[in-house]
Amino acid sequence: MTENPASPTGTSSAYRPATGVCYYPEHWPESRWAQDAEAMVAAGIAWVRIAEFAWSRLEPVAGHFEWQWLDRAIDTLAGAGLNIVLCTPTATPPKWMVDNMPDMLAVDAEGRRRGFGSRRHYSFSHTGYRAQSRRITTALAERYGQHPAIKAWQTDNEYGCHDTVLSYCQAARTGFQQWLRERYEDIEALNRAWGTLFWSQALRSFECVELPNLTVTEANPAQALDFRRYSSAQIAAFNRAQVEILRRLSPGRPIAHNFMGRFNGFDHRAVAVDLDIAAWDSYPIGFLQDLQCVREEPELVQDCLRSGDPDLQAFHHDLYRGMGALWIMEQQPGPVNWAAYNPIPAPGAVRLWSFEAIAHGAEVVSYFRWRQAPFAQEQMHAGLLDHRADPAPGLAEVEQVNAELARLNLRLPKRERAPIALIHDYASNWMSELDGQSVDYHALRLELDWYRALRELGASIDVIGVNADLDDYRLVLAPGLMHIPEDLGQQLMTCQADVILGPRSGVKTAQFQLPQEAAPAPVAAAFGVRIKREDALPRRMAVPARFGACESTVRVWRDELRLDENTEVLASCSDGWPIYTRRQWDGRSRCYICAWPDARLLKAMLGAAMRCAGLPVRRMPGYLRLREYGGYRFITNYGPETEQIPAAVDGERLLGERTVPPRGVAILRSPGV
Ligand code: GAL
Repeated sequence: MTENPASPTGTSSAYRPATGVCYYPEHWPESRWAQDAEAMVAAGIAWVRIAEFAWSRLEPVAGHFEWQWLDRAIDTLAGAGLNIVLCTPTATPPKWMVDNMPDMLAVDAEGRRRGFGSRRHYSFSHTGYRAQSRRITTALAERYGQHPAIKAWQTDNEYGCHDTVLSYCQAARTGFQQWLRERYEDIEALNRAWGTLFWSQALRSFECVELPNLTVTEANPAQALDFRRYSSAQIAAFNRAQVEILRRLSPGRPIAHNFMGRFNGFDHRAVAVDLDIAAWDSYPIGFLQDLQCVREEPELVQDCLRSGDPDLQAFHHDLYRGMGALWIMEQQPGPVNWAAYNPIPAPGAVRLWSFEAIAHGAEVVSYFRWRQAPFAQEQMHAGLLDHRADPAPGLAEVEQVNAELARLNLRLPKRERAPIALIHDYASNWMSELDGQSVDYHALRLELDWYRALRELGASIDVIGVNADLDDYRLVLAPGLMHIPEDLGQQLMTCQADVILGPRSGVKTAQFQLPQEAAPAPVAAAFGVRIKREDALPRRMAVPARFGACESTVRVWRDELRLDENTEVLASCSDGWPIYTRRQWDGRSRCYICAWPDARLLKAMLGAAMRCAGLPVRRMPGYLRLREYGGYRFITNYGPETEQIPAAVDGERLLGERTVPPRGVAILRSPGV
């Protein structure tokens, strides 16, 4: 494995997937390192990520560096044949720095300064901390930038984790004012954009702009949205400053950041644009536990308690693959410690998650962490070894994955488009959080429901942003775009794909006001519908609805529509409100689903749309899922029952059987490849 590392910036257009692990040499006696490194290699692991939290070990006193231990750790790991991902340690500034510069700490929405003693204790807006971040990055890159074992970099760790995107500190206020000055130039332009006539909010100058916290009732939504945009831009700038240093001092090494799941706090695309690798951290069981509060699918939560949501990881793989080379920088290896409940994964789940990632184009799947820590915050978090250094159950599954990868010798393309695209936009997600109009309406939840329905129909999907080119797709879905930017509107009208919009599409301007033109703006005419009113319902109120033979319900949301003359009604509620409409536009379908259908109804609607677009519909039984990538068909079974691969999913069998056991995996070669 080690002589064939995935190299995301290499010139070749294909790669062989590999595995990695997160290791903390600073947690263990030096006498242990060589044994650990050899055991990693023996398990088939090719990559090791280190040092993301090691700042106080590297610089225990301001300006006094202790590199020798890291020199030796790198040499030991590299000596065993491992490829190293070296991290900048800026998620954990040392205590001396906080003592010298206490205002670098972020301030929460309640106006309280956040304290030292965990991690991510800094404000992205603080110029002094930004200078420190550049200083430590430069020092690290000067020392290790040319080291042959350093094959990739990671910037910081999980931007935004622990609610750290927004800080209401003085540095943020000053930065926000400057950002607004550049955006609006004239304070009257800001007054118009925010609608400050309302409630006497008029501002005389940029210096008197405040942050949108601690207001008596809700803050001005346009101000709150601009503050999110500003805060998001600070993360991109913070990251870019590190990237520029790494590119200069360590040329040719790909740079990653490890994003998170279920997290929209900043525009990840604006950060990823500066990176080579869009990595993310996948914790399927923890995520399922957290999501059960919102998804209300008790059966799924029970059936998949020990394997995770069958579609959530897939969604994020498809999302981040669109932003760079996909890596899983942290893959759950056993129980975690941070969810409401932390059950043990089912036997086979670690292998299942690994192949799911590979099925979506992951070049490296790296497990968090090598060995369980017996001290501090994450004692209860499993590793591939337990805290005594005995193998934990996850290790055998990783060994199996590596043995199977070696046998399969998969060669996968770096880029491959799926036939269906689902648009996910950060700004629209922020809008849905700031002006939900219903506690149950949330763009991400809607997107996940649509994504799940497609997966249950056997579809492979790209999750794309509002600037992507739509012409290469057969079917484009935009379930949650409260705002449709002008250029995207053009594409949605004229692209070669069939298009379906979801409820509340184009109901806000970029400035978070109601548009003067008819919604869904700016595409109402092309779709042949105008939104008259928006009906936000409590989730428990189900409205009967019907699509062909499928009788079911819609909940949470309905737009009341006025239809143009040539607009067909494909489905309606029992009270006559249309919920699914179609307009033919230049030979392609322009459809509008103006409600939140339940799973059965949504599946019927999207299945019909897939057929219409000439795409095969392959209903997957239970929690069996299919992902086609690089000429292979990857089948995963998240459920507790054995499932049969549908006959329509054929191909030469490379791994597993046509009967897939609980948490089992099968791989077929696609016919004709
Ligand atoms: C991630 C984080 C890791 C570790 C892990 C535990 O969010 O990046 O450092 O805390 O969670 O599951």
